[in-house]
Amino acid sequence: MADPQEVLSRRVQSALGAAFGPEFADTDPVIRPSQFADYQANAALALAKRLGRKPREVSAAIMEKLDVSDVCRDVEVSGPGFINLTLREDWIAERTRRLLDDPRLGVPLQEGQNIPLDYSAPNVAKEMHVGHLRTTVVGDSLARVLEFLGHHVIRQNHIGDWGTPFGMLIEHLLAVGEDSPEAELLTTDPNAFYQAARTEFDSSGPGPEDFAARARRRVVLLQSGDEETLRLWRKLVGLSKVYFNKVYARLGVTLTDDDLAGESTYNHMLADVCEELESKGIAEISDGALCVFLEGFTGREDKPVPLIVRKSDGGYGYATTDLATVRHRVDDLKADRILYVVGAPQAMHFKMVWATARKAGWLPDNVETVHVQIGNVLGNDGKILRTRSGAPVRLIALLDEAVERAGAVVAQNRPDLDAASRDEIARMVGIGAVKYADLSVAHDTEYTFDFDRMLALNGNTGPYLQYAQARIRSIFRKGGLELSEARGRITVSQDAERALALKLLEFGAVVAQVGDLLQPHRLSSYLFDLAQSLTAFYEHCPVLTADTEAERE
Ligand code: ARG
Repeated sequence: MADPQEVLSRRVQSALGAAFGPEFADTDPVIRPSQFADYQANAALALAKRLGRKPREVSAAIMEKLDVSDVCRDVEVSGPGFINLTLREDWIAERTRRLLDDPRLGVPLQEGQNIPLDYSAPNVAKEMHVGHLRTTVVGDSLARVLEFLGHHVIRQNHIGDWGTPFGMLIEHLLAVGEDSPEAELLTTDPNAFYQAARTEFDSSGPGPEDFAARARRRVVLLQSGDEETLRLWRKLVGLSKVYFNKVYARLGVTLTDDDLAGESTYNHMLADVCEELESKGIAEISDGALCVFLEGFTGREDKPVPLIVRKSDGGYGYATTDLATVRHRVDDLKADRILYVVGAPQAMHFKMVWATARKAGWLPDNVETVHVQIGNVLGNDGKILRTRSGAPVRLIALLDEAVERAGAVVAQNRPDLDAASRDEIARMVGIGAVKYADLSVAHDTEYTFDFDRMLALNGNTGPYLQYAQARIRSIFRKGGLELSEARGRITVSQDAERALALKLLEFGAVVAQVGDLLQPHRLSSYLFDLAQSLTAFYEHCPVLTADTEAERE
C-alpha cells in the first residue's frame, strides 16, 4: 500500500515492539497529518500511562528504535511527546511514481466476498421519490466500490411489484385500454396513473359489477395465479420497468433488468416461511394473525410489537417477503455479507426480520447483515420534500430542473459554445450535482434539497470537483499532451506540490475504508480535499511555464 500513514504506522509499531516488548507491538501509533510536519505520531501519550513514564521519555525511547531513514528526512520529538515526521522528497516522488504505474491506483484487492446488495427498490405504478433517488445513488456507489475492491456484488432490486393495490391497478388498466395513452403514463408519470386508479376506486358504486368489487375480485384472481390476470400484471410491471430504466439511464447507475428481484419473486416461499416459523414455535397466532414476538421490541406502554408474517385474512406482507430475501440470499446466493440500502425509518423492520431469521436458523452467525440507513431528504420547510401542492416531487422533473438550471449558467458563461456542447455540459453538471449531493453527506443523516447549494461552484459540490477536473484537462490540452501519456519524471519541490502528492498517496486507503465502513461520503470528502490541494497547486505551481523542463514534466 502506498499510503504514507500506513507505512509510518508499521514503522512506529515495530519501534514500539523493539522498545517496550512484543505486547506493545499492536498499539495503534495514531499517525495524523500535522501542520508542523507531514505527519505526527501520537502513541506516547497513551503509552505513558501504561508504562508509568513521562510521555517525552517514551517518545525518546521510541525514537531510539525507530528506523525511518529511507522514508523521512526529519524526525523529532515535539510538544508533550509527539513525534513529528517529515517525509523525504525522493520517497514521495518514488511512491507517486509507483501510483502512476499502478492501474489500481493503490487500491488494495480484498479477499472477495459474495455480497447481495439491496438498493433502489422503487414501487410499480408509483413515482420514485427522492428517497429512492438517494438509495439508488448511494447503493450504486457502494456496488462500484465493493466490486473494485474485489468483491462479488449481486445487485438485488427489490421492487414493490405485488400486493392488494394491483387489483385496482389491473382493473384501471382494463378500463383505460392496455395500449392507451393513459396506460403509457406509467412510463413517464406513474403517479398520474396510480391516482386515476385510486379515484376510480374511491368513487366507485357498491354494486357487484362496480369498479371496487371488480378490483377486489381481481386481487383474488391474481393471488390464485389466473393466467389472464398475470398477463395484465406483467404488463403493468413491464411499463413500470420502462420508467425505472429511464431514471437509471438518466442517472448513469449500473442497475439493469437482470438485477430485478421484486417482492413477487418470493411468492412461492411465503407459505413455507410461515409454516416453519409456526412449527418451530417462533410464530404464534394473535388476533387471527400469525405473529413473531421478539424480546426487546416493545412499543407504547411496553406493549410487545409483533412482526406480522401472515395477516388475519391469510395475506402475506412486507415482513414475510423480507424473511424470504434472507433465506434466498443465504442459501442460493451464498452470501457472506448482505447489505440493505433502505430508508432509515425501516430500521426496526430489519432488526426484527433478522432477529427472526437468526432464531429460525436461516441466518447463520457468520453471515453479517447491514442496514445502510438512508436519511430523509427534506424541503426548505424542514419537512419531507413535496411540491407546493403537497404532491410527492416527480423525480424526472427534479432531474430536468437541475439540468435546466445548470444550462442557464452555461448559456450565460459560454455563449461561444454550440448548442449541443452546452446541452452536454448542462447534463453533466446538473445530474452530477444531484448525485453528488447524495454522496457527499453521511448516508444516514437528513439533508435539505437545495438546488443553489448543489450547483454552487464553491464548496463540497459536484461542480467544484468537475471544475478541478476541467483544470487538469486544460493543462494537458494547452500543452498538447494526452493524459495517458503523462509518464514524465516526478520530482517534488514546492509545498503545494508536496501536499498534492501526499493526498494522492492516500487514495487507496480511503477507497478501502469506504468499502469497510460502507460510507461513500468519505470518498467525497477525500475528493473534495484533493480538489482543494489541486486548486492550490494550480495557483502556485504553473506547469506549462515552469522554470525547468524537469519541473514541467
Ligand atoms: N419498496 C420499498 C419502499 O419503497 C423498499 C424495499 C427495500 N428493500 C427491502 N428488501 N425491503 O420503501
